[in-house]
Amino acid sequence: MAARVPVSRLALLGAPGSGKGTMAHKIRLHFGITSVASGELLRDHIYRRTEIGHRARSYIVAGRLVPDDFITHLVMRELQQRGDDGWVLDGFPRTLPQAHALECERVRLDAVLCLDVPADTIRQRLSSRWIHARSGRVYNTHFNPPRNAGRDDVTGEPLVQRLDDRPDAVVARLREYRERTQPLVTHFASRGLLHTFAGTETNKVWPEIHAFISSHVRSLG
Ligand code: AP5
Repeated sequence: MAARVPVSRLALLGAPGSGKGTMAHKIRLHFGITSVASGELLRDHIYRRTEIGHRARSYIVAGRLVPDDFITHLVMRELQQRGDDGWVLDGFPRTLPQAHALECERVRLDAVLCLDVPADTIRQRLSSRWIHARSGRVYNTHFNPPRNAGRDDVTGEPLVQRLDDRPDAVVARLREYRERTQPLVTHFASRGLLHTFAGTETNKVWPEIHAFISSHVRSLG
């Protein structure tokens, strides 16, 4: 029997609003594996009004992907700072050139977890998402509402909607996903890395992901 491959370097793949951030949060809580979320890195730069944030903002507001070299550089720098620890990549890679860049840099991926959620569900989720801009904490008025309406649970500060959750930006993001990210499904399947989890209810999808990681992950001590 083949030896089990230890899994501690994961990537989450899925359309906007498919629940990548929600699952990354659960993986950190249950397995102690922290995430590197490309969208959060960019939003943090926008929040801090850096040069990188200034450059990324126009793409994000329009629902377009930022240039490959730009995001690859940002994520690689973050991974170098993490050293040899395990991580979950949330939102990267999401184009073939980004996947090739990881391979060129010999960054090993153990598994790609693909979240498969229908487009109608996604539109509904994104229109009711609210975030705490400074920390990136995510709420949803239907799914996980804040304790006090419109306020962050930890700081009590006001919640805001994301720049790219406007309906026209959501349409553009879903188009970018279909045209530029979906080819990665075939790419990772051909490398034997793809594991797809379909469904709209976290209560049903999460136990499957939990079981998958539990059966593969090496003790992270
Ligand atoms: P990014 O932040 O990565 O956004 P995204 O991929 O569009 O994904 P989201 O954060 O919208 O959704 P998610 O899948 O994490 O879902 P969540 O858990 O929040 O990227 C933003 C932008 O940055 C991109 O558009 C692009 O411009 C740029 N960018 C980032 N990475 C890039 C890259 N690699 N290359 C180029 N450009 C890049 O859930 C969504 C909502 O649904 C939440 O409110 C949540 O509470 C709710 N929810 C979750 N699960 C459920 C459930 N089961 N039932 C009901 N509600 C639920």
